[in-house]
Amino acid sequence: MQDLVKAAIAARAKAHAPYSKFFVGAAMRDEHGHVHGGCNIENAAYPQGWCAEPSAISHLIMAGGTKVTEVVVMGNGDTLCTPCGGCRQKIREFAKGDVKIHCCTESGALIQTFTLDQLLPASFGPENLT
Ligand code: THU
Repeated sequence: MQDLVKAAIAARAKAHAPYSKFFVGAAMRDEHGHVHGGCNIENAAYPQGWCAEPSAISHLIMAGGTKVTEVVVMGNGDTLCTPCGGCRQKIREFAKGDVKIHCCTESGALIQTFTLDQLLPASFGPENLT
């Protein structure tokens, strides 16, 4: 998990969050074991900004990953920063319910670990369309 923590800290340092000043870093492991970071990127037209998690998912997909197997997310200080509702669904597209989502402080200390199923129970996913 330390490689994910390191990547999330590095990603968070790049966050573009001049409006909320809430800097978020995320890191996701793919099925090959590779780690991909992402940060939130806000916009002067507020609704056009996006979260750290979809940034990480974009990197994972573009690097050839197809599955999310482990996640780390961190916000400001010691605040518990769980993925927002939309991000839970975005992670769900590529992750099984037992995938662990570790919520950490901005310096990388673990606050709490959840499974995706805990954060998004009875979820709707790709299998529902087959
Ligand atoms: N944010 C994330 O990056 N991920 C989340 O799951 C929660 C919220 C960002 C969006 C916005 O840039 C800032 O945090 C404040 O909501």
